[in-house]
Amino acid sequence: MKESPKAWRPFTTNCCSTEDQTFICNFSKCKPSSKSEMSKTIGPLPSFRRLSFSDLSRSSSTRIAEDLAQTFGPDLVDFQLSELRAITQNFSSHYLLGQGGFGTVHKGYVDDSLKSGIKAQAVAVKLLDIEGLQGHREWLAEVIFLGQLRHKNLVRLIGYCCEEEQRLLVYEFMPRGSLENHLFKRLSVSLPWNTRLKIAIGAAKGLAFLHGAEKPVIYRDFKTSNILLDSEFNAKLSDFGLATMGPEGSNTHVTTRVMGTYGYAAPEYVSTGHLTTKSDIYSFGVVLLELLTGRRAVDKMRTKSEQNLVDWTRPYLGSSRRLRYIMDPRLAGQYSVRGAKEMALLASKCVSMNPKDRSRMPELIETLESLQQLKDMAIASGHWPATSQKIINIKVKNGSNVCSPQGNKENRGNGMMKKNSPNAHGRKAR
Ligand SMILES: Nc1ncnc2c1ncn2[C@@H]1O[C@H](COP(=O)(O)OP(=O)(O)OP(=O)(O)O)[C@@H](O)[C@H]1O
Ligand SMILES: [Mg+2]
Repeated sequence: MKESPKAWRPFTTNCCSTEDQTFICNFSKCKPSSKSEMSKTIGPLPSFRRLSFSDLSRSSSTRIAEDLAQTFGPDLVDFQLSELRAITQNFSSHYLLGQGGFGTVHKGYVDDSLKSGIKAQAVAVKLLDIEGLQGHREWLAEVIFLGQLRHKNLVRLIGYCCEEEQRLLVYEFMPRGSLENHLFKRLSVSLPWNTRLKIAIGAAKGLAFLHGAEKPVIYRDFKTSNILLDSEFNAKLSDFGLATMGPEGSNTHVTTRVMGTYGYAAPEYVSTGHLTTKSDIYSFGVVLLELLTGRRAVDKMRTKSEQNLVDWTRPYLGSSRRLRYIMDPRLAGQYSVRGAKEMALLASKCVSMNPKDRSRMPELIETLESLQQLKDMAIASGHWPATSQKIINIKVKNGSNVCSPQGNKENRGNGMMKKNSPNAHGRKAR
């Protein structure tokens, strides 16, 4: 993290807004609110100065690019469209890494021969789909947040391109793609238990870094497709298009237009638009449930009672005896019974309907880290198989019967739906 003060050129007259406000950072102030709130390994986040960007959307692309270049200097590279075309073979499908709401993502390679002084490295180039739902706002929010936030658990933004109506983002290339691909893609090899824990801890540290500032950043789009993995399965958060600053002063929340992804967004945020860091904690709990069960947050391919992961798992999270019925069958019992139980308890607290009951990121990190040493594998302790193919009725507290839901067959990769189909699992609500 850079701490040296630099000449900061605010976008006062010619910038743009995310839906309500956009913010840029003053590097000279770097104070976390309290040390105890920060994990030892998490560095301080600079505080942000709220600035209005309401005019940049009306500026010409040349002007925007000039402003960004002056603001970020050498920290972010201002690429030309022709350069990004060249390194991706004109955004060819052979170089396609994936596609999301913003547009397609292509692999490329940059070095000194493209831009002098640039470090030779593989990159991921995200190209705005001009016909799509996202646009300049998301692009600019990404540049502003990721251009300034540097942490080992946040994906590194290398540069951007802004020409006419074209908007592109250039990131460090993450060789293992997204957690979503590893957990849910039919042909992917199952992630071992300890790798799942490592990913949960890395992603938690990224989120803790954002929340641990004097003026916290609310990420608002925590989900498996936004958790990217390097060659050693270190997790990094990507996609800051929906990120926003947390409440200031005595305010307990900011009120915004409801945006996010079905299944991950906290219920109180969806119903009131009141956004706090606790909304991110809810989404974190949903991802923990996905890691435990190997199921998607929302899966319209399943029977009605099993479509929403939080609702479906709730009765099973309190005991290891019940929990085994919902554990990911692809783990084949190779998970720590105590570790899974503790993770389920954390998840259960995170997805509590009452935001006050949700844990804070440092506590979550501490508990998750303590689970890494556990070796009590379910397969060795008689916890697995959990009467695998049979339907078992479990009497739960509220008196209703729930069925053992996890036949091995039903869980194998059938959550695949087209990314942009309506009502498909986990797409953005805007
Ligand atoms: N830096 C990167 N390195 C490697 N692959 C990447 C990188 N960024 C994105 N990808 C790949 O591209 C895919 C699409 O990413 P993108 O963030 O555009 O959409 P998404 O997260 O799947 O959906 P949404 O638009 O809802 O956020 C990712 O799932 C990942 O596989
Ligand atoms: Mg994404």
